[in-house]
Amino acid sequence: MATIFEQESRTFSEYLLVPNLTTEKNTPDQVDLSAPICRFRKGEEESKLKINIPFVSAVMQAVSDDGMAIALARCGGMSFIFQSQSIESQCEMIRKVKKYKAGIVASDSNVSPDATLEDILKLREEKEHGTVAVTEDGTAEGKLLGLVTTRDYRVSRMSLDEKVSTFMTPIEKLVTAPEGTTLKVANDIIWDNKINQLPIIDKDGRLVGLVFRKDYEFHKANPYELLDKDKKLIVGAGINTRDYMERVPALIEAGADALCLDSSDGFSVWQQKALEWIKSNYPDVIVGAGNVVDAEGFKFLADCGADFIKIGIGGGSICITREQKGIGCGQASAVLAVSEARDKYFKETGVYIPLCSDGGIVHDYHMALALAMGADFMMLGRYFARFDESPTRKLLVGGSYVKEYWGEGSNRARNWQRYDDGGKGGKMAFEEGVDSYVPYAGKLKDNLDTSIAKVKATMCSCGSSSIEEFQEKARLVVVSSTSIIEGGAHDVIQKENDRTAR
Ligand code: IMP
Repeated sequence: MATIFEQESRTFSEYLLVPNLTTEKNTPDQVDLSAPICRFRKGEEESKLKINIPFVSAVMQAVSDDGMAIALARCGGMSFIFQSQSIESQCEMIRKVKKYKAGIVASDSNVSPDATLEDILKLREEKEHGTVAVTEDGTAEGKLLGLVTTRDYRVSRMSLDEKVSTFMTPIEKLVTAPEGTTLKVANDIIWDNKINQLPIIDKDGRLVGLVFRKDYEFHKANPYELLDKDKKLIVGAGINTRDYMERVPALIEAGADALCLDSSDGFSVWQQKALEWIKSNYPDVIVGAGNVVDAEGFKFLADCGADFIKIGIGGGSICITREQKGIGCGQASAVLAVSEARDKYFKETGVYIPLCSDGGIVHDYHMALALAMGADFMMLGRYFARFDESPTRKLLVGGSYVKEYWGEGSNRARNWQRYDDGGKGGKMAFEEGVDSYVPYAGKLKDNLDTSIAKVKATMCSCGSSSIEEFQEKARLVVVSSTSIIEGGAHDVIQKENDRTAR
């Protein structure tokens, strides 16, 4: 006979946190939101990779491209670039993120002195920034002859075939710094000379890289920025259980810092096979797996070697898996069940496996609940899709700005690998996701700052200064439907525009 679980499955909205004693230690500036991404022996060693804020962006076409990855890593989180695209284009996105080094960057717009104004304008459109290095051979490492910035030409007054050598700022008039100059000194030079960019050159006058004023200013304002040991932004990549033997080596070569098996149902031999192959060929590579919703699914992937495990089936905002297949579990119950299994696994083996709660975060307070229930970090799709930095179109619909957002299992994305049933593959028999709009919400950083402020405030109310402490101390209560109504503004006539963004 079938097993019937005794407890009904619940969502985040059915719980509230009961405050603990708040002490002098519990102020937002003292809260540490860093989270491990890779399994480790807790108490003996640190996780190989940590994110500075517990947010990763979903492995989705409508969410995680290189633009989102750069914006999120600069705020301390991490994107997993979508895998429902060719290996080449996914790797190109990874390379773009790794090239975007805050600090000394390799010049990606370069011309020789014979290039024309037309070439400069084309480069500007293609690369979307205004500084072009003029080198003897037109390469990023060539002998530096000058720079062209938007201040050097006036399109309305010049002919498009004018040679760069006639209007560039020549090297004699540029402030440069020698190879080996530290970032700090480079920034002092930028300030002292009131310039926007500083070329770094080697002893033979060849270009090593450029330091931009705006990067430094952003860095100062973003203490959480997530950088690798070479000060490059950290980025993850989605993979699937079909072409991993080709995709994984290419992604590693391109510089991906972590991988994540992207599947709607991770409790499968396909994930086992992929994990075993990756772990035996690339033992140092960080690879997460999922999604699962219970202890059995967790244990299976933990034993297969997954470095982190993703929780969630059917809770995504664009997801219709529960309606279509009748599988899944309320997200809160799933996180609680898997966390319990993870803690048991840690007690038995000494190995701590970070958990990621994926999908179904609607309100900011759900973020704190996910962490309190045992998730180390969370994956968000709808949340990030609303921002300027997501790859989709911003449209005016019914007088309001919206952004497009579609599921990986929708006909629009046709990510059949994610919904792989082990059959011949190559097609999806039915949809598991919808194509939708989400309200446009502006800049990622502004929204993330507000969400982080709320999570920290909740943690302070619960007497916690770190996610680990929060998980240990959190006390949760199931709320009745009437007490949910009590939780919003009620029995008052609310004034229009009297609500700050929630
Ligand atoms: P959201 O943050 O609630 O929008 O959920 C995002 C999550 O939904 C993703 O990280 C995936 O796990 C999941 N997801 C993405 N596309 C689909 C789909 O088409 N059907 C079902 N789930 C999806």
